[in-house]
Amino acid sequence: KIPLLIDTDPGVDDALALLMAFNDARHEIVGLTVAAGNVGLQHTVRNALKLCEVARRDDIPVFAGTPAPLLHPSPDAGYVHGRDGFGDVGYEASKRQAEAEHAALAILRLSREHAGRLLLVALGPLTNLALALKLDPTLPQRVARLVVMGGAVTGHGNITPSAEFNVYFDPEAAHIVFQAFPRFDLADWEAVLVHGLKHADFDEWLTADSPRAAFYDAISRQTRAWSAERRGGERWHSADALAMAYALQPDGATQVLERPVAVELDGRLTRGTTVVDWLRQAGGPDNARILMAYDEKRFQTLIRTALAAR
Ligand code: BDR
Ligand code: CA
Repeated sequence: KIPLLIDTDPGVDDALALLMAFNDARHEIVGLTVAAGNVGLQHTVRNALKLCEVARRDDIPVFAGTPAPLLHPSPDAGYVHGRDGFGDVGYEASKRQAEAEHAALAILRLSREHAGRLLLVALGPLTNLALALKLDPTLPQRVARLVVMGGAVTGHGNITPSAEFNVYFDPEAAHIVFQAFPRFDLADWEAVLVHGLKHADFDEWLTADSPRAAFYDAISRQTRAWSAERRGGERWHSADALAMAYALQPDGATQVLERPVAVELDGRLTRGTTVVDWLRQAGGPDNARILMAYDEKRFQTLIRTALAAR
């Protein structure tokens, strides 16, 4: 099996992505490292532990990371995911605690234990990964593949006019990661926008007779309602789920473009924007394989079966 390490800030869409990973027979999850982002670290860690409990995956170690971005404080996304990040349903916390080891150190240790084979998937701000890279810049040599959910490749942002949340939350961290990895896979917000999920389909999948579906129905209800009201239309968008589909089944990608991608760190209006050198004018390396299109049926099947799994 392929060893899989997931850095995440759960988060309603993170939870769906994690359920997809839990349900995948070809990968072995070696840990969840938890970031602050959608909500504060105490909530994201609590949510990660709870999801493992609901899915009966308490065998997966959970490591708490860094509670704030590297340089500047950043507002969270509690207005999308609920103040606790899981729809404020008032669940009873898991009795399990996070491991004592810091997430950044766990990333480095696991990269050594699974050197050359590790699939690393980042579903939140890149603070933990950036710290790991600062501690040990040789990390990319041991990671077989890095998949990042982040960015908005033509500047159609979801948190500012041109920036996507994960990169905007900690732009310096994203800059460090994008520079350090010679090649990574990127599932950006604009790919997410063209891979919406029909509310009607999703509602049906949530009726599956499984504790995972029941829990997911509860924690995602507020976010789905917010999305229907705020964004309208018959579909909603699960960013981390698309990134996880790309990670678990890369052959489901039907269009990928390789280009240099950098992060704007200043910019009065554009801090946290991902700048893609579409015409390769600046001479930088093609560091990102940008997901442009993914097999819709396959994406839906991955989600449906993850919710129905017991
Ligand atoms: C990303 O930001 C977060 O709110 C989601 O969990 C996802 O990782 C989408 O921009
Ligand atoms: Ca996330």
